[in-house]
Amino acid sequence: MQRTLGTIIGGSLADGLTMRVNAETPLEIIRTGKFVSIVTPQYKFFSLITDMRLEVSHPDILLFPPGEHEQLLMSVLALKDMYATAVVRPMVVLNDRKQVLPVKIVPQHFSPVVEAQEEDITTIFGDERDPSGRYFAVGSPLGMKSPICLDLEKITERSNGIFGKTGTGKTFLTRLVLAGLIKNNKAVCVIFDMHSEYGLQARKEGNQELFVKGLRTLFPDKVAIFSLDPLSTQRRGGSPDMVISLSYQSISVEDLLSLQEELHLHSTAYEAAYLLSARYKQDWLAVLLSHGERLKDLANDVGAHPESIAALYRKLKQIERLPFFVPSPQGEEPSENIIDRMMEFIDRGISIIIEFGNYTSTFCYLLLANLITRKIHHMYTRKTERFLGSHRKQDEPQKLMIVIEEAHKFLNSQAARQTIFGTIAREMRKYYVSLLVVDQRPSGIDPEIVSQLGTRIIAQLHDEKDIQSVLMGAHNIQQLRVVLSSLDSKKQVLLLGHALAMPIVIETRSYDDQFYQAMIQQVKPLHDMINEIF
Ligand SMILES: Nc1ncnc2c1ncn2[C@@H]1O[C@H](COP(=O)(O)OP(=O)(O)O)[C@@H](O)[C@H]1O
Ligand SMILES: [Mg+2]
Repeated sequence: MQRTLGTIIGGSLADGLTMRVNAETPLEIIRTGKFVSIVTPQYKFFSLITDMRLEVSHPDILLFPPGEHEQLLMSVLALKDMYATAVVRPMVVLNDRKQVLPVKIVPQHFSPVVEAQEEDITTIFGDERDPSGRYFAVGSPLGMKSPICLDLEKITERSNGIFGKTGTGKTFLTRLVLAGLIKNNKAVCVIFDMHSEYGLQARKEGNQELFVKGLRTLFPDKVAIFSLDPLSTQRRGGSPDMVISLSYQSISVEDLLSLQEELHLHSTAYEAAYLLSARYKQDWLAVLLSHGERLKDLANDVGAHPESIAALYRKLKQIERLPFFVPSPQGEEPSENIIDRMMEFIDRGISIIIEFGNYTSTFCYLLLANLITRKIHHMYTRKTERFLGSHRKQDEPQKLMIVIEEAHKFLNSQAARQTIFGTIAREMRKYYVSLLVVDQRPSGIDPEIVSQLGTRIIAQLHDEKDIQSVLMGAHNIQQLRVVLSSLDSKKQVLLLGHALAMPIVIETRSYDDQFYQAMIQQVKPLHDMINEIF
Protein backbone atom coordinates (compact mmCIF):
# COMPACT_ATOMS: atom_id res chain seq x y z
CA MET A 1 0.00 0.00 0.00
CA GLN A 2 2.65 2.46 1.08
CA ARG A 3 5.16 2.98 -1.68
CA THR A 4 8.78 2.26 -0.81
CA LEU A 5 10.83 4.97 -2.44
CA GLY A 6 14.19 3.42 -1.77
CA THR A 7 16.48 1.87 0.84
CA ILE A 8 19.20 3.27 3.04
CA ILE A 9 22.62 2.04 1.97
CA GLY A 10 25.02 4.21 3.98
CA GLY A 11 25.89 7.69 5.13
CA SER A 12 26.26 9.38 8.49
CA LEU A 13 24.30 11.63 10.80
CA ALA A 14 26.68 14.47 10.12
CA ASP A 15 26.49 14.30 6.32
CA GLY A 16 23.07 12.71 5.86
CA LEU A 17 22.13 9.13 4.98
CA THR A 18 22.30 7.77 1.46
CA MET A 19 19.19 6.27 -0.04
CA ARG A 20 19.35 4.20 -3.17
CA VAL A 21 16.25 5.10 -5.10
CA ASN A 22 14.25 2.03 -6.20
CA ALA A 23 14.25 1.32 -9.90
CA GLU A 24 10.45 1.56 -9.97
CA THR A 25 10.35 4.95 -8.27
CA PRO A 26 9.93 7.71 -10.86
CA LEU A 27 12.79 10.16 -10.38
CA GLU A 28 10.41 13.13 -10.70
CA ILE A 29 8.79 12.39 -7.34
CA ILE A 30 12.11 12.45 -5.49
CA ARG A 31 13.01 16.07 -5.05
CA THR A 32 14.85 18.25 -2.58
CA GLY A 33 12.65 19.30 0.31
CA LYS A 34 10.56 16.11 0.10
CA PHE A 35 9.38 14.81 3.43
CA VAL A 36 10.05 11.08 3.94
CA SER A 37 10.36 8.56 6.73
CA ILE A 38 12.91 5.81 7.23
CA VAL A 39 11.21 2.85 8.86
CA THR A 40 12.89 0.45 11.30
CA PRO A 41 11.13 -1.99 13.65
CA GLN A 42 11.26 0.41 16.63
CA TYR A 43 11.64 3.84 15.07
CA LYS A 44 10.65 6.10 12.26
CA PHE A 45 13.19 8.70 11.20
CA PHE A 46 11.43 11.73 9.74
CA SER A 47 13.69 13.29 7.20
CA LEU A 48 14.10 15.74 4.38
CA ILE A 49 15.69 14.90 1.08
CA THR A 50 18.44 17.44 0.65
CA ASP A 51 20.39 16.28 -2.41
CA MET A 52 20.35 13.78 -5.26
CA ARG A 53 22.94 12.08 -7.40
CA LEU A 54 23.02 9.85 -10.48
CA GLU A 55 25.16 6.70 -10.29
CA VAL A 56 26.22 3.78 -12.44
CA SER A 57 27.44 0.40 -11.20
CA HIS A 58 30.61 0.46 -13.27
CA PRO A 59 32.51 3.44 -14.67
CA ASP A 60 32.95 1.73 -18.05
CA ILE A 61 29.26 2.20 -18.70
CA LEU A 62 29.89 5.90 -18.88
CA LEU A 63 32.50 5.38 -21.57
CA PHE A 64 29.91 3.83 -23.88
CA PRO A 65 26.58 5.38 -23.01
CA PRO A 66 23.58 3.96 -24.87
CA GLY A 67 22.61 6.00 -27.90
CA GLU A 68 19.20 7.50 -28.40
CA HIS A 69 17.94 4.46 -30.35
CA GLU A 70 19.46 1.75 -28.22
CA GLN A 71 16.31 1.18 -26.20
CA LEU A 72 17.11 -2.44 -25.38
CA LEU A 73 20.53 -1.60 -23.94
CA MET A 74 18.96 1.25 -22.04
CA SER A 75 16.36 -0.94 -20.38
CA VAL A 76 18.92 -3.63 -19.50
CA LEU A 77 21.15 -1.03 -17.85
CA ALA A 78 18.17 0.51 -16.05
CA LEU A 79 17.48 -2.80 -14.33
CA LYS A 80 20.67 -2.98 -12.32
CA ASP A 81 23.41 -0.70 -13.51
CA MET A 82 22.00 2.81 -13.49
CA TYR A 83 20.44 4.24 -10.41
CA ALA A 84 20.00 7.38 -8.40
CA THR A 85 20.80 8.10 -4.79
CA ALA A 86 19.42 10.78 -2.54
CA VAL A 87 20.78 12.35 0.61
CA VAL A 88 18.19 11.88 3.34
CA ARG A 89 18.63 13.96 6.45
CA PRO A 90 16.82 12.72 9.57
CA MET A 91 15.36 15.61 11.59
CA VAL A 92 13.39 13.85 14.33
CA VAL A 93 12.78 10.28 15.43
CA LEU A 94 9.43 8.84 16.47
CA ASN A 95 9.59 5.78 18.74
CA ASP A 96 6.99 3.05 19.02
CA ARG A 97 5.36 4.92 21.91
CA LYS A 98 4.81 7.87 19.57
CA GLN A 99 7.35 10.06 21.35
CA VAL A 100 9.19 12.62 19.23
CA LEU A 101 12.93 12.48 19.95
CA PRO A 102 16.05 14.20 18.66
CA VAL A 103 18.14 12.19 16.22
CA LYS A 104 20.99 10.43 18.01
CA ILE A 105 20.85 7.00 16.37
CA VAL A 106 21.01 5.74 12.81
CA PRO A 107 18.68 3.30 11.09
CA GLN A 108 20.25 -0.02 10.09
CA HIS A 109 21.40 -0.85 6.57
CA PHE A 110 18.68 -1.36 3.96
CA SER A 111 15.91 0.23 6.01
CA PRO A 112 13.09 1.17 3.65
CA VAL A 113 12.29 4.83 2.99
CA VAL A 114 8.61 5.68 2.50
CA GLU A 115 6.44 8.75 2.21
CA ALA A 116 5.46 9.94 5.68
CA GLN A 117 1.93 8.96 6.71
CA GLU A 118 -0.77 11.31 7.84
CA GLU A 119 -1.05 9.91 11.38
CA ASP A 120 2.70 10.32 11.88
CA ILE A 121 2.52 13.86 10.56
CA THR A 122 -0.17 14.79 13.07
CA THR A 123 1.87 13.19 15.84
CA ILE A 124 4.83 15.37 14.96
CA PHE A 125 3.18 18.64 13.93
CA GLY A 126 -0.12 18.49 15.80
CA ASP A 127 -3.67 18.13 14.57
CA GLU A 128 -5.85 21.05 13.55
CA ARG A 129 -8.89 19.20 14.97
CA ASP A 130 -7.35 19.31 18.46
CA PRO A 131 -9.98 21.06 20.64
CA SER A 132 -7.38 23.37 22.21
CA GLY A 133 -7.20 25.26 18.89
CA ARG A 134 -3.46 25.21 19.33
CA TYR A 135 -2.58 23.86 15.91
CA PHE A 136 -3.28 25.60 12.66
CA ALA A 137 -2.66 24.11 9.23
CA VAL A 138 -0.55 26.31 6.96
CA GLY A 139 0.08 23.89 4.11
CA SER A 140 1.19 20.37 3.28
CA PRO A 141 4.51 18.67 2.49
CA LEU A 142 5.58 18.70 -1.16
CA GLY A 143 3.54 16.26 -3.20
CA MET A 144 1.33 15.25 -0.25
CA LYS A 145 -2.09 16.15 1.08
CA SER A 146 -1.62 15.87 4.87
CA PRO A 147 -1.80 19.22 6.66
CA ILE A 148 1.25 20.62 8.43
CA CYS A 149 0.34 22.72 11.47
CA LEU A 150 2.05 25.55 13.27
CA ASP A 151 1.84 25.48 17.06
CA LEU A 152 0.10 28.81 17.65
CA GLU A 153 0.93 28.88 21.35
CA LYS A 154 4.60 28.72 20.52
CA ILE A 155 4.24 31.30 17.78
CA THR A 156 2.99 33.81 20.34
CA GLU A 157 5.81 33.10 22.77
CA ARG A 158 8.51 34.68 20.62
CA SER A 159 8.95 37.12 17.79
CA ASN A 160 8.76 35.51 14.36
CA GLY A 161 9.65 36.30 10.75
CA ILE A 162 8.24 35.73 7.29
CA PHE A 163 10.80 36.22 4.52
CA GLY A 164 11.00 35.92 0.76
CA LYS A 165 11.47 37.88 -2.43
CA THR A 166 8.69 40.10 -3.68
CA GLY A 167 5.80 38.09 -5.09
CA THR A 168 6.58 34.81 -3.29
CA GLY A 169 3.45 34.94 -1.14
CA LYS A 170 4.63 36.63 2.08
CA THR A 171 1.54 38.75 2.47
CA PHE A 172 -0.71 35.77 1.77
CA LEU A 173 1.13 33.70 4.35
CA THR A 174 1.06 36.47 6.90
CA ARG A 175 -2.68 36.80 6.42
CA LEU A 176 -3.00 33.04 6.82
CA VAL A 177 -1.04 32.92 10.07
CA LEU A 178 -2.92 35.92 11.45
CA ALA A 179 -6.24 34.29 10.51
CA GLY A 180 -5.20 31.30 12.60
CA LEU A 181 -4.22 33.41 15.60
CA ILE A 182 -7.42 35.44 15.39
CA LYS A 183 -9.78 32.53 14.76
CA ASN A 184 -8.42 30.51 17.66
CA ASN A 185 -8.06 33.52 19.97
CA LYS A 186 -4.35 32.96 20.52
CA ALA A 187 -3.27 36.58 20.14
CA VAL A 188 -4.54 40.07 19.51
CA CYS A 189 -2.78 41.55 16.51
CA VAL A 190 -1.83 45.08 15.55
CA ILE A 191 -1.08 45.11 11.85
CA PHE A 192 0.66 48.04 10.17
CA ASP A 193 -0.86 47.57 6.75
CA MET A 194 1.20 49.67 4.38
CA HIS A 195 -0.56 48.59 1.19
CA SER A 196 -4.07 48.04 2.58
CA GLU A 197 -3.96 44.29 1.95
CA TYR A 198 -5.11 42.84 5.24
CA GLY A 199 -8.44 44.41 6.09
CA LEU A 200 -11.18 44.38 3.52
CA GLN A 201 -9.82 42.63 0.49
CA ALA A 202 -6.60 42.26 -1.39
CA ARG A 203 -5.73 42.05 -5.00
CA LYS A 204 -4.69 38.67 -6.27
CA GLU A 205 -2.44 38.08 -9.26
CA GLY A 206 -3.85 36.01 -12.10
CA ASN A 207 -7.05 36.45 -13.99
CA GLN A 208 -9.68 34.19 -12.47
CA GLU A 209 -10.56 35.81 -9.20
CA LEU A 210 -9.33 39.31 -8.71
CA PHE A 211 -9.69 39.72 -4.97
CA VAL A 212 -9.35 37.72 -1.80
CA LYS A 213 -11.06 38.45 1.49
CA GLY A 214 -9.25 40.40 4.15
CA LEU A 215 -9.23 39.69 7.87
CA ARG A 216 -11.88 42.27 8.71
CA THR A 217 -14.17 40.62 6.16
CA LEU A 218 -13.45 37.14 7.53
CA PHE A 219 -13.69 38.06 11.22
CA PRO A 220 -16.04 41.04 11.44
CA ASP A 221 -16.38 40.71 15.22
CA LYS A 222 -12.69 40.31 15.96
CA VAL A 223 -10.93 42.79 13.71
CA ALA A 224 -11.28 46.56 13.39
CA ILE A 225 -9.85 48.90 10.77
CA PHE A 226 -8.21 52.11 11.89
CA SER A 227 -7.59 54.19 8.81
CA LEU A 228 -5.22 57.05 8.10
CA ASP A 229 -7.00 57.62 4.82
CA PRO A 230 -10.75 57.05 5.23
CA LEU A 231 -11.49 58.06 1.65
CA SER A 232 -9.24 55.32 0.36
CA THR A 233 -10.91 52.78 2.66
CA GLN A 234 -14.29 53.89 1.34
CA ARG A 235 -13.19 53.64 -2.27
CA ARG A 236 -12.41 50.00 -1.56
CA GLY A 237 -15.97 49.45 -0.46
CA GLY A 238 -15.80 49.65 3.30
CA SER A 239 -15.78 52.21 6.00
CA PRO A 240 -13.10 52.26 8.64
CA ASP A 241 -14.17 51.52 12.20
CA MET A 242 -12.04 54.43 13.39
CA VAL A 243 -10.29 57.25 11.62
CA ILE A 244 -6.82 57.97 12.96
CA SER A 245 -6.04 61.49 13.96
CA LEU A 246 -3.02 62.43 15.98
CA SER A 247 -1.57 65.59 17.41
CA TYR A 248 1.97 66.88 16.96
CA GLN A 249 2.32 66.34 20.67
CA SER A 250 2.15 62.59 20.19
CA ILE A 251 5.45 62.60 18.27
CA SER A 252 8.48 62.25 20.48
CA VAL A 253 12.13 62.66 19.58
CA GLU A 254 12.51 58.89 20.00
CA ASP A 255 10.17 58.34 17.07
CA LEU A 256 12.67 60.12 14.82
CA LEU A 257 15.44 57.69 15.63
CA SER A 258 14.16 55.08 13.21
CA LEU A 259 13.88 57.75 10.54
CA GLN A 260 17.57 58.47 10.66
CA GLU A 261 18.35 56.63 7.44
CA GLU A 262 15.20 57.71 5.67
CA LEU A 263 15.69 61.41 6.43
CA HIS A 264 19.49 61.45 6.35
CA LEU A 265 19.33 63.18 9.68
CA HIS A 266 22.63 64.21 11.11
CA SER A 267 23.28 63.57 14.77
CA THR A 268 23.43 67.32 15.40
CA ALA A 269 19.82 67.57 14.21
CA TYR A 270 18.90 65.07 16.91
CA GLU A 271 20.72 67.07 19.48
CA ALA A 272 18.69 70.08 18.42
CA ALA A 273 15.48 68.02 18.71
CA TYR A 274 16.47 66.92 22.21
CA LEU A 275 17.19 70.51 23.21
CA LEU A 276 13.77 71.53 21.91
CA SER A 277 12.00 68.79 23.78
CA ALA A 278 13.92 69.55 26.96
CA ARG A 279 12.58 73.04 26.77
CA TYR A 280 9.09 72.64 25.31
CA LYS A 281 8.35 69.06 26.36
CA GLN A 282 5.61 67.49 24.23
CA ASP A 283 5.07 70.74 22.33
CA TRP A 284 8.55 70.62 20.80
CA LEU A 285 7.41 69.77 17.29
CA ALA A 286 4.48 72.22 17.25
CA VAL A 287 6.89 74.95 18.39
CA LEU A 288 9.47 74.04 15.74
CA LEU A 289 6.94 73.97 12.90
CA SER A 290 5.41 77.27 13.96
CA HIS A 291 8.82 79.00 13.87
CA GLY A 292 9.38 78.68 10.12
CA GLU A 293 10.30 82.37 9.84
CA ARG A 294 12.12 82.69 13.13
CA LEU A 295 14.30 79.61 13.34
CA LYS A 296 17.33 81.65 14.43
CA ASP A 297 15.46 83.00 17.47
CA LEU A 298 14.35 79.50 18.34
CA ALA A 299 17.92 78.22 18.07
CA ASN A 300 19.15 80.97 20.36
CA ASP A 301 16.31 80.32 22.72
CA VAL A 302 17.13 76.63 23.29
CA GLY A 303 20.87 76.96 22.79
CA ALA A 304 21.03 74.88 19.60
CA HIS A 305 23.09 75.44 16.50
CA PRO A 306 20.96 77.48 14.02
CA GLU A 307 21.92 75.25 11.13
CA SER A 308 20.89 72.11 12.98
CA ILE A 309 17.52 73.61 13.85
CA ALA A 310 17.07 74.67 10.23
CA ALA A 311 17.94 71.17 8.99
CA LEU A 312 15.52 69.60 11.43
CA TYR A 313 12.82 72.01 10.34
CA ARG A 314 13.36 71.23 6.66
CA LYS A 315 13.14 67.49 7.23
CA LEU A 316 10.10 67.57 9.47
CA LYS A 317 8.11 70.15 7.61
CA GLN A 318 6.58 67.36 5.51
CA ILE A 319 4.57 66.36 8.57
CA GLU A 320 2.43 69.43 7.96
CA ARG A 321 1.21 67.87 4.74
CA LEU A 322 -0.08 64.75 6.51
CA PRO A 323 -3.75 65.44 7.22
CA PHE A 324 -4.00 62.92 10.06
CA PHE A 325 -1.69 65.08 12.16
CA VAL A 326 -3.93 67.77 13.51
CA PRO A 327 -2.11 70.54 15.32
CA SER A 328 -3.70 70.94 18.74
CA PRO A 329 -3.12 74.12 20.74
CA GLN A 330 0.23 74.13 22.52
CA GLY A 331 0.14 73.22 26.17
CA GLU A 332 -3.15 71.38 25.83
CA GLU A 333 -3.71 67.66 26.00
CA PRO A 334 -5.29 66.50 22.77
CA SER A 335 -8.83 65.52 23.72
CA GLU A 336 -9.59 62.57 21.50
CA ASN A 337 -6.82 60.07 21.96
CA ILE A 338 -6.84 57.46 19.25
CA ILE A 339 -4.24 55.37 21.03
CA ASP A 340 -6.57 54.97 24.03
CA ARG A 341 -9.26 53.84 21.60
CA MET A 342 -6.87 51.25 20.20
CA MET A 343 -6.11 49.98 23.69
CA GLU A 344 -9.82 49.63 24.41
CA PHE A 345 -10.20 47.42 21.35
CA ILE A 346 -7.09 45.43 22.22
CA ASP A 347 -8.34 44.93 25.79
CA ARG A 348 -11.47 43.39 24.35
CA GLY A 349 -9.45 41.02 22.22
CA ILE A 350 -10.16 42.84 18.96
CA SER A 351 -7.24 42.98 16.54
CA ILE A 352 -6.44 46.22 14.79
CA ILE A 353 -5.46 46.85 11.21
CA ILE A 354 -3.88 50.23 10.63
CA GLU A 355 -4.51 51.08 7.01
CA PHE A 356 -2.23 53.59 5.36
CA GLY A 357 -4.39 54.10 2.25
CA ASN A 358 -2.56 56.45 -0.08
CA TYR A 359 0.05 57.38 2.52
CA THR A 360 2.45 54.66 1.52
CA SER A 361 5.71 56.57 1.93
CA THR A 362 8.37 54.95 4.05
CA PHE A 363 8.49 58.14 6.08
CA CYS A 364 4.82 57.80 7.06
CA TYR A 365 5.06 54.08 7.71
CA LEU A 366 8.11 54.33 9.92
CA LEU A 367 6.87 57.34 11.83
CA LEU A 368 3.38 56.01 12.52
CA ALA A 369 4.42 52.45 13.29
CA ASN A 370 7.01 53.72 15.76
CA LEU A 371 4.78 56.19 17.45
CA ILE A 372 1.83 53.83 17.84
CA THR A 373 3.92 50.83 18.85
CA ARG A 374 5.84 52.85 21.41
CA LYS A 375 2.63 53.97 23.06
CA ILE A 376 0.90 50.61 22.96
CA HIS A 377 3.99 48.88 24.28
CA HIS A 378 4.17 51.36 27.12
CA MET A 379 0.57 50.63 28.11
CA TYR A 380 1.08 46.91 27.75
CA THR A 381 4.13 47.01 29.97
CA ARG A 382 2.12 48.69 32.70
CA LYS A 383 -0.70 46.21 32.24
CA THR A 384 1.73 43.31 32.58
CA GLU A 385 3.32 44.80 35.65
CA ARG A 386 -0.13 45.12 37.24
CA PHE A 387 -0.73 41.48 36.51
CA LEU A 388 2.67 40.47 37.89
CA GLY A 389 1.81 42.44 41.03
CA SER A 390 -1.67 41.01 41.53
CA HIS A 391 -1.30 37.53 40.04
CA ARG A 392 -5.00 37.57 39.38
CA LYS A 393 -5.83 35.45 36.37
CA GLN A 394 -8.32 37.99 35.04
CA ASP A 395 -5.56 40.64 34.91
CA GLU A 396 -3.40 38.52 32.64
CA PRO A 397 -2.89 40.40 29.36
CA GLN A 398 -3.64 38.62 26.11
CA LYS A 399 -0.65 37.99 23.90
CA LEU A 400 -0.15 40.89 21.55
CA MET A 401 1.50 40.49 18.17
CA ILE A 402 2.67 43.49 16.19
CA VAL A 403 3.03 42.99 12.46
CA ILE A 404 5.39 45.12 10.37
CA GLU A 405 6.39 44.85 6.75
CA GLU A 406 9.73 46.12 5.41
CA ALA A 407 11.14 45.04 8.73
CA HIS A 408 14.76 45.83 7.82
CA LYS A 409 13.88 49.51 7.91
CA PHE A 410 12.84 49.16 11.56
CA LEU A 411 15.41 46.65 12.64
CA ASN A 412 18.67 47.42 10.86
CA SER A 413 21.61 47.34 13.21
CA GLN A 414 21.43 51.02 13.97
CA ALA A 415 17.64 51.24 14.48
CA ALA A 416 17.45 47.99 16.43
CA ARG A 417 19.62 49.45 19.16
CA GLN A 418 17.53 52.56 19.63
CA THR A 419 13.93 51.95 18.71
CA ILE A 420 10.94 50.28 20.28
CA PHE A 421 11.00 47.42 17.78
CA GLY A 422 14.50 46.45 18.83
CA THR A 423 13.38 46.50 22.45
CA ILE A 424 10.39 44.24 21.78
CA ALA A 425 12.43 41.79 19.71
CA ARG A 426 15.02 41.52 22.47
CA GLU A 427 12.87 41.38 25.57
CA MET A 428 10.86 38.56 24.00
CA ARG A 429 7.92 37.25 25.96
CA LYS A 430 8.39 39.18 29.16
CA TYR A 431 5.66 41.71 28.43
CA TYR A 432 3.34 39.56 26.34
CA VAL A 433 4.25 41.55 23.23
CA SER A 434 5.98 40.05 20.22
CA LEU A 435 6.68 40.96 16.61
CA LEU A 436 5.83 39.33 13.35
CA VAL A 437 8.31 40.78 10.91
CA VAL A 438 7.74 40.47 7.18
CA ASP A 439 10.62 41.30 4.89
CA GLN A 440 12.09 40.76 1.46
CA ARG A 441 15.59 41.76 2.47
CA PRO A 442 16.40 39.96 5.73
CA SER A 443 20.13 40.67 5.44
CA GLY A 444 19.25 44.27 6.33
CA ILE A 445 17.99 43.18 9.75
CA ASP A 446 20.35 43.16 12.70
CA PRO A 447 21.78 39.59 12.89
CA GLU A 448 21.19 39.42 16.62
CA ILE A 449 17.50 40.12 16.10
CA VAL A 450 17.19 37.50 13.35
CA SER A 451 18.82 34.87 15.51
CA GLN A 452 16.30 35.59 18.28
CA LEU A 453 13.31 34.98 16.03
CA GLY A 454 11.45 31.92 17.28
CA THR A 455 9.93 30.69 14.05
CA ARG A 456 10.93 31.58 10.51
CA ILE A 457 8.82 31.07 7.45
CA ILE A 458 11.06 31.39 4.43
CA ALA A 459 10.04 31.62 0.78
CA GLN A 460 12.38 31.85 -2.20
CA LEU A 461 15.33 34.19 -1.78
CA HIS A 462 18.05 34.74 -4.34
CA ASP A 463 20.55 36.96 -2.65
CA GLU A 464 23.29 34.98 -0.95
CA LYS A 465 23.44 37.45 1.96
CA ASP A 466 19.70 37.13 2.54
CA ILE A 467 19.87 33.34 2.55
CA GLN A 468 22.75 33.40 4.98
CA SER A 469 20.96 35.76 7.29
CA VAL A 470 17.61 33.90 7.46
CA LEU A 471 19.32 30.65 8.34
CA MET A 472 21.43 32.28 11.03
CA GLY A 473 21.60 30.15 14.16
CA ALA A 474 19.73 27.17 12.64
CA HIS A 475 21.02 23.58 12.69
CA ASN A 476 21.97 21.91 9.41
CA ILE A 477 22.47 25.25 7.68
CA GLN A 478 24.30 23.70 4.74
CA GLN A 479 21.46 21.30 3.93
CA LEU A 480 18.73 23.83 4.53
CA ARG A 481 20.45 26.16 2.13
CA VAL A 482 20.15 23.56 -0.63
CA VAL A 483 16.49 23.06 0.23
CA LEU A 484 15.89 26.78 0.24
CA SER A 485 17.51 27.29 -3.13
CA SER A 486 15.20 24.72 -4.70
CA LEU A 487 11.91 26.31 -3.62
CA ASP A 488 9.42 27.34 -6.30
CA SER A 489 8.90 31.04 -6.79
CA LYS A 490 5.41 31.02 -5.24
CA LYS A 491 3.46 29.26 -2.53
CA GLN A 492 6.35 27.14 -1.28
CA VAL A 493 8.13 27.84 1.95
CA LEU A 494 10.59 26.36 4.38
CA LEU A 495 9.26 26.38 7.96
CA LEU A 496 11.83 26.42 10.68
CA GLY A 497 12.04 26.91 14.42
CA HIS A 498 10.23 27.00 17.74
CA ALA A 499 6.66 26.31 16.51
CA LEU A 500 7.65 23.14 14.63
CA ALA A 501 9.22 19.88 15.71
CA MET A 502 11.45 19.87 12.64
CA PRO A 503 12.19 22.05 9.60
CA ILE A 504 9.90 21.23 6.71
CA VAL A 505 9.11 22.47 3.22
CA ILE A 506 5.45 23.00 2.47
CA GLU A 507 3.12 23.98 -0.29
CA THR A 508 1.27 26.90 1.28
CA ARG A 509 -2.41 26.38 2.14
CA SER A 510 -4.56 28.03 -0.48
CA TYR A 511 -6.25 31.21 0.55
CA ASP A 512 -9.55 30.61 -1.19
CA ASP A 513 -13.26 29.85 -0.68
CA GLN A 514 -12.48 26.62 1.08
CA PHE A 515 -10.27 28.48 3.49
CA TYR A 516 -12.94 31.13 4.16
CA GLN A 517 -15.41 28.36 4.93
CA ALA A 518 -13.02 26.90 7.46
CA MET A 519 -12.65 30.30 9.15
CA ILE A 520 -16.32 31.20 9.40
CA GLN A 521 -17.83 31.12 12.85
CA GLN A 522 -20.84 32.49 14.61
CA VAL A 523 -20.31 36.24 14.46
CA LYS A 524 -21.62 39.26 16.23
CA PRO A 525 -21.44 42.39 14.09
CA LEU A 526 -18.70 44.75 15.15
CA HIS A 527 -21.15 47.67 15.25
CA ASP A 528 -22.85 46.03 18.24
CA MET A 529 -19.49 45.62 19.93
CA ILE A 530 -18.60 49.24 19.31
CA ASN A 531 -21.94 50.33 20.71
CA GLU A 532 -21.24 48.24 23.78
CA ILE A 533 -17.83 49.83 24.21
CA PHE A 534 -18.92 53.42 23.80
N1 LIG B 1 -1.52 30.91 -0.16
C1 LIG B 1 -1.87 31.47 -1.33
N2 LIG B 1 -3.11 31.24 -1.85
C2 LIG B 1 -3.46 31.77 -3.02
N3 LIG B 1 -2.66 32.56 -3.77
C3 LIG B 1 -1.42 32.82 -3.34
C4 LIG B 1 -0.96 32.30 -2.08
N4 LIG B 1 0.30 32.72 -1.89
C5 LIG B 1 0.63 33.49 -2.95
N5 LIG B 1 -0.40 33.56 -3.83
C6 LIG B 1 -0.37 34.29 -5.12
O1 LIG B 1 0.89 34.95 -5.23
C7 LIG B 1 0.74 36.35 -5.38
C8 LIG B 1 1.83 37.11 -4.60
O2 LIG B 1 1.66 36.93 -3.22
P1 LIG B 1 1.96 38.09 -2.15
O3 LIG B 1 1.60 37.52 -0.81
O4 LIG B 1 1.32 39.35 -2.53
O5 LIG B 1 3.56 38.20 -2.30
P2 LIG B 1 4.60 39.11 -1.50
O6 LIG B 1 3.89 39.72 -0.33
O7 LIG B 1 5.68 38.15 -1.09
O8 LIG B 1 5.09 40.11 -2.48
C9 LIG B 1 -0.65 36.65 -4.88
O9 LIG B 1 -1.22 37.76 -5.52
C10 LIG B 1 -1.42 35.39 -5.18
O10 LIG B 1 -1.93 35.41 -6.47
MG1 LIG C 1 3.58 41.74 0.17
